[in-house]
Amino acid sequence: MAQSSIKPHKGKLGILLPGLGAVATTFLAGVEAIRQGVSEPIGSLTQMGTVRLGKRTDNQTPLIKEFVPIAPLEDLVFGGWDIFEENCYESAKKAGVLEAQLIEKVRPMLEAVKPMKAVFSNRYVKNLHGTHVKEGANWFELAEQLKEDIRSFKEKNDLDRVVVVWCGSTEIFIEPSDVHQTIKSFEEGLRGNDERISPSMVYAYAAITSGVPFANGAPNLTVDLPAMVELAREHSVPICGKDFKTGQTFMKTVLAPGFKARLLGVAGWFSTNILGNKDGEVLDDPESFKTKEASKLSVLDHILQPKVYPTLYGDMHHKVRINYYPPRGDNKEGWDNIDIFGWLGYPMQIKIDFLCRDSILAAPIVLDLALFSDLAMRAGKRGIQEWLSFYFKAPQTADKLYPEHDLFIQLMKLKNTLRDMQGEELITHLGQEYYD
Ligand SMILES: NC(=O)c1ccc[n+]([C@@H]2O[C@H](COP(=O)([O-])OP(=O)(O)OC[C@H]3O[C@@H](n4cnc5c(N)ncnc54)[C@H](O)[C@@H]3O)[C@@H](O)[C@H]2O)c1
Repeated sequence: MAQSSIKPHKGKLGILLPGLGAVATTFLAGVEAIRQGVSEPIGSLTQMGTVRLGKRTDNQTPLIKEFVPIAPLEDLVFGGWDIFEENCYESAKKAGVLEAQLIEKVRPMLEAVKPMKAVFSNRYVKNLHGTHVKEGANWFELAEQLKEDIRSFKEKNDLDRVVVVWCGSTEIFIEPSDVHQTIKSFEEGLRGNDERISPSMVYAYAAITSGVPFANGAPNLTVDLPAMVELAREHSVPICGKDFKTGQTFMKTVLAPGFKARLLGVAGWFSTNILGNKDGEVLDDPESFKTKEASKLSVLDHILQPKVYPTLYGDMHHKVRINYYPPRGDNKEGWDNIDIFGWLGYPMQIKIDFLCRDSILAAPIVLDLALFSDLAMRAGKRGIQEWLSFYFKAPQTADKLYPEHDLFIQLMKLKNTLRDMQGEELITHLGQEYYD
């Protein structure tokens, strides 16, 4: 009989979101619509996904949420922080993602989520000017205030557990440096108001030292730093990031593994986007765009391995552009032109025009990351959760380990981790037993 290593869920789970903008409010409205039975959890692996157990002939494919003890949607309680004071009903209306009719159906729940004051500085997000912001002598004091927010949120709502998912804006590009290396240097940096520490890092520090898992939906470094990894291990907390994999990069991690599998060359991949939401406005600042660009560019090199396949990918031109174009709102359009070549070097082209909805793609990822982070915590996992790479553009890995970007390898890894947690046999796809 298989042995589970996961503590059961009991009581309520709090989900705290720094950043209550388009993604966060679309997530909240969606969960409430699902609870009310007016919608289905489309796009969520924890809600609709299955996992095969045993042989292909065993016909055992339970829902993931029945195979592992995932917290039920009824047990979730929500809160968050933002630099604007408006509640989530007002914020959802402003975000312009959802129809007014749906927003009205879930209005009481959205209205009840009122942002706590944020830790914010204009230095890190240039294009936003909010005033609902905490005051403190230094980062350390501000982290203490966030810890108090977490404590009182837990107490007021009588919660058993809490997780944090960063849904805040993309911050300016910061390189890891000495202040980020150890817990000691980082804490000195917090006390000394070091400029290389950004607000998202202060939230992460507060969460981890409160024993709360942290998932990072933006491309900021945040928890992808040696000090944070050490801290997470010390406090036995799972962490993961970075940058939700939703539109164009999601398509890249589906297509590029296919080209490599068939040994088709890629001469160039040009990606451009137009979007008009607040995220687009933030990314209009070159310093925030640089953070996003680094996250988007890393994918192809890791999948196609130009050093291993120099003839096919050694001279590939990869360009990513994002243009802020207000008329489109949250309905992004992403174009890809891919120049590939095949047998005898003959060139071919592939064009993709993805008319996507950014927050609609991101919302189920927020749900899954919150629920899987809580599951990881109850399974006694700590530090970087590489099995959650499936959800990220730039998955966080151990030092010196390259990230796995291929969506299907990521999914296999995720499901095998679940099997492993429940003491089930891993699936290798060898399949020799059917022929012996
Ligand atoms: N939608 C997607 O498909 C997608 C994909 C990958 C990553 N992301 C990232 O997710 C994040 C959220 O995206 P969005 O479309 O909801 O953006 P948004 O601009 O609508 O929402 C972000 C919110 O964060 C708030 N904020 C900024 N700094 C904060 C701070 N320090 N503390 C608390 N709140 C803060 C802003 O006021 C805003 O309300 C962005 O970083 C974006 O790059 C989104």
